[in-house]
Amino acid sequence: MTERISIICSPTPLHRLSRLSEHLGCEIWIKRDDLTGFAGGGNKGRKLEFLMAEALRVGADAVVTRGAWQSNWIRQCGAACRVFGIEFHAAAAMWPYPDEARKTRPDGWPDGNLWTGNAVLNKWTGANVHLLPDMTFDQVEEEAQRIAEDLRSKGRNVFSIPGGGSTAIGAQGFIAALDEIAMQQDEFDQIVFGSGSGGTQTGLTYGGRLKGLRTRMLGICTDDEPEMVEDFAALAGDLDALLGQSLNLNAEDFWLTTEYCAGGYQVPSQETQEAMEVLVDTEGIFLDPVYTGKAFAGLLGLARAGELPGRTLFWHTGGFPVLFADGRLPREW
Ligand SMILES: Cc1ncc(COP(=O)(O)O)c(C=O)c1O
Repeated sequence: MTERISIICSPTPLHRLSRLSEHLGCEIWIKRDDLTGFAGGGNKGRKLEFLMAEALRVGADAVVTRGAWQSNWIRQCGAACRVFGIEFHAAAAMWPYPDEARKTRPDGWPDGNLWTGNAVLNKWTGANVHLLPDMTFDQVEEEAQRIAEDLRSKGRNVFSIPGGGSTAIGAQGFIAALDEIAMQQDEFDQIVFGSGSGGTQTGLTYGGRLKGLRTRMLGICTDDEPEMVEDFAALAGDLDALLGQSLNLNAEDFWLTTEYCAGGYQVPSQETQEAMEVLVDTEGIFLDPVYTGKAFAGLLGLARAGELPGRTLFWHTGGFPVLFADGRLPREW
């Protein structure tokens, strides 16, 4: 493992969801990474403990990253940079792209009020978020590189981090998280979580294999991109190189379903909303509509199909501020 710096409050709570378990007829537990305690909580704090340690080790005075305008990653990374005195820049797109939004929300979402949810919190951390409304993923990447080059040409020592903090260094946060769980509970039969940029899934899957766990790591994809498992395999290769291991994971080693992605990243859906309501109704726990709501819809779908034998851990990865983002009121469908 590379160096680590303390950022989050850990261990985060892990508890049984007794009313939900009764409702579903399955044994369901929850890992509360919505309560990581740093900058509004969420899974990114785990990655940042390793990423910020690395940024400080190399003497970075600026961080450049990328993501969506309502990105939880940008919020948490921006706050971490603030705390450690590093200038922070993020290239941020207004996904889904306007034509996608027109298809899913003819009444105009997301063109309304920009200053909602995570965008407000980013203001509090003084983050430099460069808004790129219409850009594609590749264009956002180019813009992030341009920002980094511009800073470098001014003599700055830039630490560039991909969207979601999903590098081998960041993914170590989720390998370490498995030790945290082992101190809290006996091994689970499966862990269900939302998958985006893949650091969470790669860290858990890799860590599970490294530690010889029998737990199935079930990733619920929050975008319509089944080919992402190729990226996870590449990231696992980077972990092999970083940690001096040779697990040689390939795409087939990652369990990922796109069945609950509702057609794409940030696209709202009735199924997601209903899943969010189930957890509020049974346990009083809020999810978000972009990641954890879809992940939980996946858990419900798998439970109802009888595919969650034994004990299941649902990993709540955060995202609470998105509930206050533009266009995110519960809807009549
Ligand atoms: C709330 C939440 N859950 C899950 C994820 C997905 O994690 P990963 O990017 O490591 O796949 C994210 C990523 O932004 C997130 O913000």
